[in-house]
Amino acid sequence: MSRSFILSSALFALRAVAQTSSPYVDAKTGITFNGYQHVSGYTFGIALPENPTTDFIAQIQAPITNRGGWAGFSMGQSMTGNPLIVAWPNDGEIVSSFRQATGYTNPAVKTSNFSMTPIPDGTFVNETAFSYTFLCSNCISDNVADGLVIYDSPAVNIMGWAFAKAPLTDSASASAALNYHNGGFGAFGMPMDNAKSAKFDTWAALAVQGGSDSGNTTVPTTPVPGNNSTAPISGGNTTASIANETYDYIVAGGGPAGIIAAERLAESGASVLLIERGGPSLASSGNTDTLEWNSTVTMYDVPGYGYYLSDVGSPAYCTDTADMAGCLLGGGTSVNAMMFVKPQEKDFDDKWPVGWKWADVSAAADRVWERNPGQTYGSMDGNRYNDEAYGVLSQFFAGQGWAETDFIKDPNSKTDVYGHPAWNVAGGLRSGPVKTYLPLAQKLSNFKLIMNTNVVRAVRAGSSISGVEVETAAGKQIIYNVKAGGSVLLAAGALSTPRILFNSGIGLAEQLQTVAAGKSGAAHPDEADWINLPFNTSIPMLSEPKTAFTTPNQTTVELFAKGSGILAQSGQRLNWWSSVTTSDGSEVFFQGTCNGPSDDTIQMK
Ligand SMILES: *[C@@H]1O[C@H](CO)[C@@H](O)[C@H](O)[C@H]1NC(C)=O
Ligand SMILES: *[C@@H]1O[C@H](CO)[C@@H](O)[C@H](O)[C@H]1NC(C)=O
Ligand SMILES: *[C@@H]1O[C@H](CO)[C@@H](O)[C@H](O)[C@H]1NC(C)=O
Ligand SMILES: *[C@@H]1O[C@H](CO)[C@@H](O)[C@H](O)[C@H]1NC(C)=O
Ligand SMILES: *[C@@H]1O[C@H](CO)[C@@H](O)[C@H](O)[C@H]1NC(C)=O
Ligand SMILES: *[C@@H]1O[C@H](CO)[C@@H](O)[C@H](O)[C@H]1NC(C)=O
Ligand SMILES: *[C@@H]1O[C@H](CO)[C@@H](O)[C@H](O)[C@H]1NC(C)=O
Ligand SMILES: *[C@@H]1O[C@H](CO)[C@@H](O)[C@H](O)[C@H]1NC(C)=O
Ligand SMILES: *[C@@H]1O[C@H](CO)[C@@H](O)[C@H](O)[C@H]1NC(C)=O
Ligand SMILES: *[C@@H]1O[C@H](CO)[C@@H](O)[C@H](O)[C@H]1NC(C)=O
Repeated sequence: MSRSFILSSALFALRAVAQTSSPYVDAKTGITFNGYQHVSGYTFGIALPENPTTDFIAQIQAPITNRGGWAGFSMGQSMTGNPLIVAWPNDGEIVSSFRQATGYTNPAVKTSNFSMTPIPDGTFVNETAFSYTFLCSNCISDNVADGLVIYDSPAVNIMGWAFAKAPLTDSASASAALNYHNGGFGAFGMPMDNAKSAKFDTWAALAVQGGSDSGNTTVPTTPVPGNNSTAPISGGNTTASIANETYDYIVAGGGPAGIIAAERLAESGASVLLIERGGPSLASSGNTDTLEWNSTVTMYDVPGYGYYLSDVGSPAYCTDTADMAGCLLGGGTSVNAMMFVKPQEKDFDDKWPVGWKWADVSAAADRVWERNPGQTYGSMDGNRYNDEAYGVLSQFFAGQGWAETDFIKDPNSKTDVYGHPAWNVAGGLRSGPVKTYLPLAQKLSNFKLIMNTNVVRAVRAGSSISGVEVETAAGKQIIYNVKAGGSVLLAAGALSTPRILFNSGIGLAEQLQTVAAGKSGAAHPDEADWINLPFNTSIPMLSEPKTAFTTPNQTTVELFAKGSGILAQSGQRLNWWSSVTTSDGSEVFFQGTCNGPSDDTIQMK
């Protein structure tokens, strides 16, 4: 039941996000699992026989808050399409269920010939956590829709995890509707070889027969005396204290939009409060978690770590957004791979409302570019390191009649063009608003930044917003008010601003219904429609191994100190743009990002 697979761009994209796993011995059962643990407390472990055929042993553990939510894993990298296993506590027992999602909605119960048999010592509910350890029979398949596919080249599976803190409304039923995974979710890489053991059969024998064959089982556990966890569910109408100080402007969210808006308002003399839910990012913003090989920078400062953040640390990705987002100062600009895309005039002149056309905004754009220019030159010493992918791909695109362009100098060329990637890198370090705008604001006495504080909702009476309610890291609720005539700016990002709006009772019922319907998936062309384009394969293409970045040698460290070398560059090696005109006459633009992830391999996404 093994198979090889091509390193897909989806997998590569995940490599930047996916956490890695490591083996652990479960004290209660003695089983050695290859495990993944998230900072939320979610743990997943898997054990396999030396030659996997149909069965594996898995363990899911998660903390209990508010009487327990649910936790689970996906047998592939996506929530949709792959079989899911979920478990939750109910009255001291564990309820588990096989599911399969066709969209990003509550996944339906999946029935097949697989079954789960609990291993009692590893299946329990205590005061702080629940644990479900089980033998999963007929759970390995060579079809991703039917079970776990064990890949042998590369021998690593990308799996998904999810964890919800809020209890289910119908937690006694194995077919209960699942609520949103607000405790966190994501992907992790699981090298399956590390999960294999000759002791598998001994461990599998610990599983006690009697579980339901339908796959959704209810397992009695040894009750923990003393606490039935009947604490009321928190949230809702708690008492918030009201801060005494008031501001002309309160800005929710310290990402690029929030920092720049807050700085510009403070420049005008107004009093401004900027509230960021995460902590500092770059060393210059107060992050003291610096690197072993250079104590003046954090992992976020080093451009070469744009593709390797999860390998060198625990980046502050949000755990409660339905896609990757940065919950730290600078938001996405502190965790992204520093692509610096200047828009073309057309983007504004096409559909933006009157007052927002290019002629209206170009002077403001110039001011941004002046403070935060971006660059296409590569390294400070004028070299471009590890640039073989550019050599290969530029010949390919030139051969197609596309033109080489400088994306910083000529943002309006966006059809059939390629060029060196434009990076938000300056002096060999990550640039962006935390570097280019925030320090200007911090020099002003009328500007205040609060970190580790989450804006929960806007406080309003009708259409008039008077302030925001926040929750501090310590769980304290505080209301900050604006002065008479003041304003609240929501700049929490595409994913969290809507949440603030919904929490504030602002939203379109119609839109929610659309989201709830959860249709997904674009049509792919038939293989007959694929176009085979030749590459010039006579150019050797060398990639830098991951360790050249994660444990740099002395030469690389010294080059970095001078703003050069592989660490002073981000991960892309060539970008391209093109456009198509659709049947309804709209012109749609595409951007491609390319690099060379391994020797003689080109990747485009
Ligand atoms: C279990 O079901 C899957 C798909 O329905 C099938 O491919 C597989 O052969 C079955 N396994 C057994 C042991 O019956
Ligand atoms: C509950 O179980 C978890 C997971 O095994 C463990 O880490 C924790 O210490 C246990 N808590 C108590 C109070 O026993
Ligand atoms: C398991 O799911 C099936 C299908 O939804 C349902 O008929 C059955 O009652 C469930 N069993 C339990 C124990 O909830
Ligand atoms: C816990 O709740 C169950 C039913 O809700 C009850 O039977 C049991 O006595 C309770 N246990 C304790 C320790 O309060
Ligand atoms: C029972 O659990 C609740 C919720 O975790 C906690 O607030 C309470 O202090 C616990 N009671 C005892 C007696 O441990
Ligand atoms: C909280 O509940 C009280 C009493 O029901 C109500 O007067 C008050 O407006 C509520 N506060 C909020 C913030 O919803
Ligand atoms: C606001 O000021 C009053 C009076 O000085 C003080 O008692 C109160 O603690 C202050 N509130 C906060 C939230 O700081
Ligand atoms: C392939 O690349 C090599 C090295 O740059 C060059 O000498 C050769 O002309 C190229 N061949 C084609 C067909 O473009
Ligand atoms: C240091 O690492 C760079 C980048 O991988 C490599 O090109 C160079 O050869 C290495 N130098 C030494 C002395 O090992
Ligand atoms: C660390 O990096 C900074 C920024 O590039 C540089 O100025 C400094 O010289 C480096 N320090 C060492 C010890 O390499």
